[in-house]
Amino acid sequence: MPHLTAFFRAIGGLPDEFLDIACGTGVLTNILSANGVRVTGIDISPQMIRAAKSKQYLTKPKFHVGDMRTFDLGQTFPVTGCFYDALNHLSSEKDLLAAFSRAASHTEKGGYYVFDVLTPTGLKHWKPYWAQKSGHYLVCQRGHFDSANKTRVVHIEAFVKTGLRSEHVEEVLTETAFEIDVVKRLLARAGFRKLVLKPFVRYKTLASAGRLVFICRK
Ligand SMILES: C[S@@+](CC[C@H](N)C(=O)[O-])C[C@H]1O[C@@H](n2cnc3c(N)ncnc32)[C@H](O)[C@@H]1O
Repeated sequence: MPHLTAFFRAIGGLPDEFLDIACGTGVLTNILSANGVRVTGIDISPQMIRAAKSKQYLTKPKFHVGDMRTFDLGQTFPVTGCFYDALNHLSSEKDLLAAFSRAASHTEKGGYYVFDVLTPTGLKHWKPYWAQKSGHYLVCQRGHFDSANKTRVVHIEAFVKTGLRSEHVEEVLTETAFEIDVVKRLLARAGFRKLVLKPFVRYKTLASAGRLVFICRK
């Protein structure tokens, strides 16, 4: 949000419409909708879309199950975005180019595509073990960084209480880090012509950043 807020201020205010690619459970959709933005969210996971749809919104967002590498809504948006390392869920340069091309096809001419990615440094220094407990769930995560492939395999396990029962959930996912030069080259191939690149808030330089924020113009 600090980056998005500064970006919206720089372009003269909030857009009328926003496409939230890999929207998850609609966290960002909710914040933008509360500020009057008409949001469309897409995510590959039907469960994420179901959770996103179950929330209350000020404006009525549209949600679709779709793959960021192949989706086609037949519409363009002034601003499109993809956040919280969703692009690191892709496993190859080919997939990353496909996702950038789909984002470009859904961005108006002169419009913007904003996203963040974890760098190889970010994936490497991710906590090896992490757990969180709240009133009705316990979730833990452990992962291993493979420096040869610049990937991290993450095991997530959760216990979620629903009434008197407790549900056990397990998921294994692989995140892949892409070098800055690769990301820049693929963005240019996808048709984005201008680029601002920033280290995520808590980092001082691009070279040391674990997460980068890209703002691209079509
Ligand atoms: C770390 S979550 C981020 C969710 C959301 N952007 C947020 O900030 O809360 C990553 C999301 O990417 C989605 N995802 C992974 N691969 C995808 C793909 N190929 N197409 C669309 N969504 C995908 C996952 O289902 C998940 O909801």
